[in-house]
Amino acid sequence: MIIICPSCNRQHKVDETRLSEKVKAAKCVFCGHRFPISRPGDTESEAAKPAEVVQPVHGKEWPRRRIAVSLSKGGVGKTTTSVNLAAGLALAGFKVLLVDTDTQGQAAYMLGVKPKAGLTELMTGEVIAEQCLAEARERLWLLAGGRSLAGVKRLIARKDFRGEMTLTEALTPIDGRFDYVIVDTSPGWDVLTINVLFYVQEVLIPVSLEVMSIQGLLEFSRSLASVQNYHKDLALKYVVPTFFDKRVKQSEEILNQLKAHYNSRLCPPIRYNVRLSEAPGYGKTIYEYAPGSPGAKDYRDLVRRVAGDQTLLS
Ligand SMILES: Nc1ncnc2c1ncn2[C@@H]1O[C@H](COP(=O)(O)OP(=O)(O)OP(=O)(O)O)[C@@H](O)[C@H]1O
Ligand SMILES: [Mg+2]
Repeated sequence: MIIICPSCNRQHKVDETRLSEKVKAAKCVFCGHRFPISRPGDTESEAAKPAEVVQPVHGKEWPRRRIAVSLSKGGVGKTTTSVNLAAGLALAGFKVLLVDTDTQGQAAYMLGVKPKAGLTELMTGEVIAEQCLAEARERLWLLAGGRSLAGVKRLIARKDFRGEMTLTEALTPIDGRFDYVIVDTSPGWDVLTINVLFYVQEVLIPVSLEVMSIQGLLEFSRSLASVQNYHKDLALKYVVPTFFDKRVKQSEEILNQLKAHYNSRLCPPIRYNVRLSEAPGYGKTIYEYAPGSPGAKDYRDLVRRVAGDQTLLS
């Protein structure tokens, strides 16, 4: 059972089965407020009600989408894309959760925040969900990754049953509060990547425009198909070419190959832009660091494409 403190509005997870019938009140661990609690079957009272999903800030239809940004190959722009897509959607008025499932923990660094808890603590249940979420920007929350996720991978690997659903089980109680959940994945292919693909419905693949990436894309597509056999709602929705450089002939050629293969799923490319590589050093998104740069323009276009609304961020 989830109850909300009527004073500070924070949520608390309570195991009803361990709660004695005599307990009629609770004390909020965040603000210290004491309040009466109600249970299913209780008559209407002043008591705190079970949590209702918070309405989205954005006035339109609530998309509630879960998108993984993934490709086994390293250094193709997964984290840059996750951070700037999530931040752009938040700027556009959506409530966004960015989940970093990488042991490198770079999403927090890119956003210039140092959360005390993150995805590991949420998945191990050591810390209640509310304290694992770091509010990185207005309407943008982060579940940070980091080295401690290695322990989570071992925990998943040891499970005999439904190990692939561990992330889904951990995130489902909180993700209803967000319009978008964007999940950044680590390079490679491991139990956590599989968990991510069982959690999301959509996959966005950033592909750097070089021959090796196409090879990586084909391999990843095969692995994706093997998960789709068990998770029918999973769809490859977007292929985003990254590091596009018009001056490099190869860039244009690979872009044409991608067009032929992925047609409507292919998004306009993200150009090579040195501002994108500088922004993380200042803990800033591209919109904050260089709002007029080609990198900011390209990521705004991607936000509009993913949200399906060309009027956003204009
Ligand atoms: N379009 C771009 N133009 C210039 N530099 C970029 C661009 N996109 C990303 N970078 C830089 O390239 C490097 C790799 O990007 P990023 O960390 O996003 O890749 P990744 O796929 O997440 O890597 P990993 O697989 O290690 O997690 C970073 O230093 C980033 O700042
Ligand atoms: Mg990364």
